[in-house]
Amino acid sequence: MARTLIAGNWKMNGLRADLEEVRAVAGAPEAAGTRIDVLLCLPATLLREACVLAQGTALRLGGQTCHTAVKGAYTGDVSAHMLADAGASHVILGHSERRSVHGETSAMIAAQAEAALGAGLKAIICVGETLAEREGGQVLDVIAGQLGASIPEMASPGELVIAYEPVWAIGTGHVAGPVQIAEVHGLIRQHLRDRFGEAGSDIAILYGGSMNPANAAEILAVENVNGGLVGGASLRAVDFLQICAHAERQAGSAGL
Ligand code: PGA
Repeated sequence: MARTLIAGNWKMNGLRADLEEVRAVAGAPEAAGTRIDVLLCLPATLLREACVLAQGTALRLGGQTCHTAVKGAYTGDVSAHMLADAGASHVILGHSERRSVHGETSAMIAAQAEAALGAGLKAIICVGETLAEREGGQVLDVIAGQLGASIPEMASPGELVIAYEPVWAIGTGHVAGPVQIAEVHGLIRQHLRDRFGEAGSDIAILYGGSMNPANAAEILAVENVNGGLVGGASLRAVDFLQICAHAERQAGSAGL
């Protein structure tokens, strides 16, 4: 069974003063790694300093995207090797904001994931439908298509995390309902089992989209939900740690 992961996604937020929030998470018992893993994916500018201050704790740090190349003439980009060198353990790939704002395709995301795995990072590959796709009854086709094309051929299950993030739920306060989440997470689990066999059951599938301390317990109790990818509510340690506490309790009652 997959180990629970609560991952924060700071997006383009955070100055050095906000490293105090990272310090608070790193030092908190909810992030001690007893039953769940806790990760903060930070802007590249904060990553190294955060890794240094989290040393000796269970808190993991990650990036939010990476280039497909190891290095080179790609102004403004960050490579997976650079993230790993800074101390990151994970990188978010294919977030809908990258897919829509930067025009990243599933093929590009697969190439980024290959680079990430090559650098020893775990890839958190995001999938999710838009509101128009949901209203058009295309949810399962969209998710299956994104999964099929975004997970690289060479990936092994231990290197992967999948995040289901309905685009219409991100930053909007609209959370997918338990039935909607269960349906998509079930489809993702089946896809992973078809592809990786039994080991597909060990890949964490995170829910993302307006998760907060008030709704986390209900979402985390849904079948095949193995954690969360948390945006806005990860910026303040007090909120983020409440979500971690819910996940700890849930993992405990599931006997993990
Ligand atoms: P949100 O963002 O929690 O602010 O909706 C989630 C995400 O985009 O990863």
